Amino acid sequence: MHNLDRYTTWPMFARDIGPDSGSALSTQNLYGVHPFYMCIESDGKAHGVFILNSNAQEVETGPGPHLLYRTIGGRIDMAFFPGPTPEEVINQYLQHIGFPFLPAYWALGYQLCRWGYGSLDAMKTVISRNQAAGIPLDVPYADIDYMNHYEDFTEGDNWSGFPAYTQQLHNQGLHLIVIFDPAVEVDYSSFQRGINADAMFIEWARDDQVPHNIQDQYPMAKNTKIMLGNVWPERNTAFPDFLDTQNNTNVWWAGEFAQFHKTLPFDGMWIDMNEPSNFDTGTYSSMEEQLANAKLSCPISGPDSSLDVPPYPTQAVYQRSGEYLFSKTLCMLGKTARRSRNFYDTKNLYGWSEARATYQAIPQVTGKRSAVISRSTFPSSGRYGGHWLGDNTARWEDLQTSVIGVMEFNMFGIPYVGSDICGFNGVSNEELCLRWHQFGAFSPFSRDHNSEGMPDQDPAVWPSVANAARIALGFRYYYLPYLYSLHYNAARYGHTVIRPLFFEYPKDEETLEISEQFLWGSALMIAPALYQGQTTVHAYFPSDTWYSLQPETYGQKMFSGFNDVNAPLSSLTPVFVRGGFILPRQAANTTTTASRLNPFEVLITVKTNAASSGELYYDNGDDIIPNDNIEQHPRVHWQFSFTSSIVGGVFTGNCETCSTAVKPPTLDTIEILGYPSAPNFSGFKLDGSSVTLDMSKTSYDASTQRVMISSKNLISLMALKKKFTLSFSNN
Ligand code: NOJ
Repeated sequence: MHNLDRYTTWPMFARDIGPDSGSALSTQNLYGVHPFYMCIESDGKAHGVFILNSNAQEVETGPGPHLLYRTIGGRIDMAFFPGPTPEEVINQYLQHIGFPFLPAYWALGYQLCRWGYGSLDAMKTVISRNQAAGIPLDVPYADIDYMNHYEDFTEGDNWSGFPAYTQQLHNQGLHLIVIFDPAVEVDYSSFQRGINADAMFIEWARDDQVPHNIQDQYPMAKNTKIMLGNVWPERNTAFPDFLDTQNNTNVWWAGEFAQFHKTLPFDGMWIDMNEPSNFDTGTYSSMEEQLANAKLSCPISGPDSSLDVPPYPTQAVYQRSGEYLFSKTLCMLGKTARRSRNFYDTKNLYGWSEARATYQAIPQVTGKRSAVISRSTFPSSGRYGGHWLGDNTARWEDLQTSVIGVMEFNMFGIPYVGSDICGFNGVSNEELCLRWHQFGAFSPFSRDHNSEGMPDQDPAVWPSVANAARIALGFRYYYLPYLYSLHYNAARYGHTVIRPLFFEYPKDEETLEISEQFLWGSALMIAPALYQGQTTVHAYFPSDTWYSLQPETYGQKMFSGFNDVNAPLSSLTPVFVRGGFILPRQAANTTTTASRLNPFEVLITVKTNAASSGELYYDNGDDIIPNDNIEQHPRVHWQFSFTSSIVGGVFTGNCETCSTAVKPPTLDTIEILGYPSAPNFSGFKLDGSSVTLDMSKTSYDASTQRVMISSKNLISLMALKKKFTLSFSNN
């Protein structure tokens, strides 16, 4: 919730800068731009406003309340979303900008990354020790270290066994994601192929602006107007123009991935530095000055400077003394969209356009459903990829703001989001890393990531963190069918996956300010510990039925209002389930590849005088969705309901869309929380026929009102079934 009692200006201009969550409020512009807000009025009704504009812009909020919007270019194209519930506002917004992609199932597994492995052997050591510690792990990563001198689509000398290792990971059911930066060095084959294919790169507007002292060093770039910058590679780089109106750039880009994939069979793409980021962009006032600079510089006086030094450059510039719009990026006078636009107008679309090009390359590259994560985002980026929240710091404040970041990006239509677990910059520590895993296990994108030169912070470093990660990730893997079903609902209907409490209880004023608790869908509430030395969480329970899922208090009903709940370091983080729901789950393994083959279970939570409902979405996990036409995608999608009375209970399933091409495991176990009487276990009927339950796994506990029902192959969820009814009477 924003504080509208003070005047605050928020610049929006994509920039390579990590979130600053230190004590004072930071309003600096970050990697992405999302000109969208939601307002909740005192009657609990919400609306949203979206201003589609890609220029440098800012919004000022203040007393009244008021909101003032400024942009320094482009057009103003506004859309209003009437809600009236917060979830409806987001749903309407996503109908406008596009629904999120459905990640491959494996991409919901835990991911382990760091910058600075230095060699394949170092990466193998870290991955193996976490596997040996029993940490659920699906996705090892390689950062820029794996490249040859930071050139895209190459492998470095210390990584010679990388393809064989990738094969080994695949054999274990794991998947590999590697990083790609947009800027390519202008003296090697990838760039040459781009030139040959008439791919476009961001250019100077005119020949006489080209600094020949730099350009002429490169035979491949010499006679072009390509604007050369500097990023990780040792020599100068060119920035692909993913808005190329002839699409040659995207075709070349996809081709580079496809060719590289033949050498290194990676599974997903991590696209970084796409604000786009350029190192040390300088200034010039005359041609002589420009030619004296060894690196890219941009005009700050004369007729060519009108875009680089506009009359009002926005707070993105005023907030940083000595800076310009082009600082840390390319000159605004650059040309994009095959010379038809100014970079000044399209810079904020750079990450978006790269994500689109990368996502669209997937069928030709891996041929399977995948996951792209992008640092810079813009409205509708969620159609093409997810997002990590960028270079945070290993500090408690950064853990706290991560919760908000994850909720916000769900409102932006990018539900596949998470923060760098344990913190990226700075030295992490045992307690912080432990708490961050306990929270991060509940982010849709769940990845531990660390900066170069920082001590290791993978869970296996500390036995206590390994233990907490096993428990938290074990819970995540157990409930992954529920999380995946939520992602399906996001992709198919435009819903959020992670929700703030006020999304479900907009009329409960207490929820409006809660930024340290969140929901998975409508049913699961997580209240993580986010402070050093914390042993309990002062958690808010909206007036409803809530059951604890923590082992120490499992199945207990929680009182409404604020409760202090235990937040142990050595057990499950506070997680609660709401009455009236049915959640699908599958026993956890150490990979999702294995866990998704386990028999299904459902957790039914009873709410007095109400039916319970829920659903299960299951598909082949990594098959491409042609043309993103999810309606046609082979799947089984079950709707479940449970009703009970003093005489007994009825659990039904209805397969809404059932494809014989998908073969889900059977539903073997049903757990009911809040069931007030003992069922008669010898009188269960499935579609009218008696069923024999496995009495070693079937029980009723009167004190906790918990029912467990189990039998091998109890209910088929295959397409042919379409419907079932399981009924029982009470003793
Ligand atoms: C910046 C990214 O934000 C970070 O995650 C990455 O590790 C470094 N670039 C190196 O590639």
